[in-house]
Amino acid sequence: MRKNVIAGNWKMNKVLSEANEFVDAVIEKVPNSDNVEAIVCAPFVYLPSLVEKAKGTNLKVAAQNMHFEENGAYTGEVSPVMLKDLGVTHVVLGHSERREYFAETDETVNQKTVAAFKHGLTPIVCVGETLEQREANETMSLVEDQVKKAVAGLSNEQVAETIIAYEPIWAIGTGKTASSEDANEVCKHIRNVVKEVTSADTADKVIIQYGGSVKPANVEELLAQSDIDGALVGGASLEADSFLQLVEAGA
Ligand code: G3P
Repeated sequence: MRKNVIAGNWKMNKVLSEANEFVDAVIEKVPNSDNVEAIVCAPFVYLPSLVEKAKGTNLKVAAQNMHFEENGAYTGEVSPVMLKDLGVTHVVLGHSERREYFAETDETVNQKTVAAFKHGLTPIVCVGETLEQREANETMSLVEDQVKKAVAGLSNEQVAETIIAYEPIWAIGTGKTASSEDANEVCKHIRNVVKEVTSADTADKVIIQYGGSVKPANVEELLAQSDIDGALVGGASLEADSFLQLVEAGA
């Protein structure tokens, strides 16, 4: 039985006082449940404060990116060693905004995914198609390629622990959600791809989230689908109340 993983991706939003207020407001209310895991994916500069606040609670703290190298001459970058040392547990990798604006490629996503496991971090690997690709019927082959490349070189156990987030780019921040059936069809395909490259048991275990205009009003229908095991949420995760409603829907 897979749990629901509800992750709020704040992207480049909030100042420190707002980040702290958010966590103060949700921290005691995140349910202690085997059915749901709640994560906030915060900008690097807030991670030390949020990890400190979240210690011993049911809230996990994630970074939104990292470099794959452990250290060195990479001005402006943050390494997996630094994240692990802080107490960060998860890291978002290959978000479409990083692929589009920061030259992230399938190859660097794979290097980062391998590095995350090497340093004891759980990767949340994002895949998804543009509107043009969907209209050209390329969705399935594209996500298949992205998933295969992202998990190349991982053991079956590591793939089972990877969180895969299916985020159709045309649904991000647009208010257009994929229908729950369409989202499930792609998530089911991703699970089959995982089965093909690993094993049936691994595919049964891997968590596959949907992301793209998820909000309290549509989350239950999405989570009710057979192959959707949570959500990666942008806009609707910025307010504490709304984030808690999403988490409660997954519990
Ligand atoms: O990573 C979450 C994301 O890209 C979806 O954003 O605002 O459509 O929920 P949003």
